[in-house]
Amino acid sequence: MRQGPTQTQSITGTSVAESWKMFDRIAGRYDVLNRVLSFRRDVAWRRFLYERLPDGCGLKVLDLATGTGDVLLGFAAAGDKVAAGVGVDKSAKMLELGRRKVERRGLTRAVTLLRGDASALGVRGESFDAATMAFGIRNVANVPETLREIWRVLKPKGRVLILEFSLPPNRIIRGLYLFYFRNVLTRIGAFVSGDRHAYRYLNRTAEEFPHGEAFCSILRDAGFKNVRAHPLTFGVATLYEGNK
Ligand SMILES: C[S@@+](CC[C@H](N)C(=O)[O-])C[C@H]1O[C@@H](n2cnc3c(N)ncnc32)[C@H](O)[C@@H]1O
Repeated sequence: MRQGPTQTQSITGTSVAESWKMFDRIAGRYDVLNRVLSFRRDVAWRRFLYERLPDGCGLKVLDLATGTGDVLLGFAAAGDKVAAGVGVDKSAKMLELGRRKVERRGLTRAVTLLRGDASALGVRGESFDAATMAFGIRNVANVPETLREIWRVLKPKGRVLILEFSLPPNRIIRGLYLFYFRNVLTRIGAFVSGDRHAYRYLNRTAEEFPHGEAFCSILRDAGFKNVRAHPLTFGVATLYEGNK
């Protein structure tokens, strides 16, 4: 069964709407597991996000489901396109770790991390040049509502960039990937994080979330134009972009 965009039912004991509580529990091990389990591909994927930001310098960027802030920190390391970044997440623990990283890198003036819900941001409309969301959209309770909120806070012609897991189109690569994803990643994730639900949740939500053309059409339905999907690393992740 495919996961519908507004579905909130319980997956392996964790409901999508309450997934942020699970991130509170695994926050301390989140970054290291990301690097190890993705063979550092996550760093390259976030780097590609930077490349797809709108042209120009001095951009104001909103990063939703920012977690420990790696997207905005990656932007600061990649170049000078982004003048100000605001990260929003529901997990206080992920944000706490993110703020420490921001302080360590001397970026407190450029990067602000706030606790909040991606689907109800409480910020003025037309405030940001770009909105990014890496591995967050499948964790929100209501995808169309979140996309409408992103639309609202983007400036005219602003760009949305959403990075999310997807499935490789090649059958052999998909088979190998699913074996790794279902059997190896979940076991290592459970062992290192100490949370047996968390990486099972990752695996189930990632496999069931709409990807490729299905997610492009969800973006179009939310009003975004020039929607494109960029499959990354044989299609295990995809960067979606669209303009307001
Ligand atoms: C897989 S992590 C991604 C973190 C970060 N973007 C990255 O690339 O490492 C997903 C994040 O989504 C957050 N989250 C889940 N539901 C949310 C919501 N409704 N609003 C904001 N953040 C949410 C979780 O707390 C978690 O930090």
